[in-house]
Amino acid sequence: MTAFDLVLAGGTVVLPGGAAEADIGVRDGRIAAVGALAGQAVADRLDCRGLHVLPGVIDTQVHFREPGLTHKEDLETGTASAAAGGVTTIFEMPNTKPLTVDPPALQDKFTRARGRAWCDHAFFMGGTAENAEHLGDWERLPGCAGVKVFMGSSTGSLLLPDDDGLESVLANGRRRVAVHAEDEPRLEERWPLVADGAPAHRHPDWRDIDTAVTATRRLLTLARKTGRPVHVLHITTGAEMDLLAQYRDVASVEVTPQHLTLVAPDCYDRLGSLAQMNPPIRDDEQRQTLWRAIDNGLVDVMGSDHAPHTLEEKHKPYPQSPSGMPGVQTLVPLMLDHVAAGRLTLQRLVDLTSAGPQRLFGISGKGRISLGYDADFTVVDLKARRTIEASGMRSRCGWTPFDGMSVTGWPMATVIRGAVVMREDELLGAPAGEPVRFIDGQ
Ligand code: DOR
Repeated sequence: MTAFDLVLAGGTVVLPGGAAEADIGVRDGRIAAVGALAGQAVADRLDCRGLHVLPGVIDTQVHFREPGLTHKEDLETGTASAAAGGVTTIFEMPNTKPLTVDPPALQDKFTRARGRAWCDHAFFMGGTAENAEHLGDWERLPGCAGVKVFMGSSTGSLLLPDDDGLESVLANGRRRVAVHAEDEPRLEERWPLVADGAPAHRHPDWRDIDTAVTATRRLLTLARKTGRPVHVLHITTGAEMDLLAQYRDVASVEVTPQHLTLVAPDCYDRLGSLAQMNPPIRDDEQRQTLWRAIDNGLVDVMGSDHAPHTLEEKHKPYPQSPSGMPGVQTLVPLMLDHVAAGRLTLQRLVDLTSAGPQRLFGISGKGRISLGYDADFTVVDLKARRTIEASGMRSRCGWTPFDGMSVTGWPMATVIRGAVVMREDELLGAPAGEPVRFIDGQ
């Protein structure tokens, strides 16, 4: 009889109270012991000496394109990319084809994910004026991450441009609603700026600061009116951060690694439409406001907004080029590089990528290293120097805006419910991801 199925041995473990030298014993997919476990009979051992063991990274915003857009990505390639990048759980977005706007479409995603997903997963239900009255029931379906709303048009046809529609979604249900906040009327008004063709660096002029701020203000007003918590995705401006600070009773905040890392106009000069995403990468002044919001605790969560398109699609002349860039595999390396540069602490990163998602979305048994929790770990080498390369990306789209970037810090192993699914950039075993469980009523 072995005491544990797996022991993560000799690592520096990031526990809720801080980092400590400890072994972790895993039994039946759960954390069974944390402490000095030398001498115990174990089935398998993962040598973590010199490495840090983080709670599994949860990426609460990815687009994996299945069904309907699988020439860009599918649930297998997207989750392989996640696991390769140290991500143990993903929340996937509803702007697929068909849209995920009813229970059969949600169920179809779980069916497709079974035996093909490399990591654990939840799926968002798209909120529309048509399905609003059902959302209170549908958001509670097993594995559903909640409701997602697009206030401004982006990839796909999911859109809720007016206050009446938005209010009807907010008025139906209780869970936190994730929102892409760009103001559709203003986008339409400003479209002539780029409609006839323009360099990609006009993207942040078309989708300007006021486009984001106007939508976020409308959203926050309605959130307070209806008493419904909202999660405002990929914030890009200091003005929104100032506003969000006034609405902490109803609003949580996400930023992405790319908005913290890339800067206009340099990124458009270097990458053209590969740097094009919604909301846009903005200038350094705005980027600094995002870092300040990380420092002062305002940001709750980091999501990658992994939004792959093929290179052929991205190389269409702007603005026919679609918005979005892959990111689920580069989230951990980029953010560890920021840790190495002293821009945030490892503890704050764990807060943004594990504890934050758990707290906001009421995830059951994940998000911290704690007895009885799922044995999900992102094992990282804070000192490893690597170069991010497109050839190492598992996403079907086959590119990354960070190709050629040298980073300090790299995910060395991904462990999901006690199974080592990635070690030294190799995926191991077979896809065995499961639906996320949520705490009832959250
Ligand atoms: O740039 C983006 N691309 N932003 C979004 O909100 C959607 C995403 C996509 O699905 O391509």
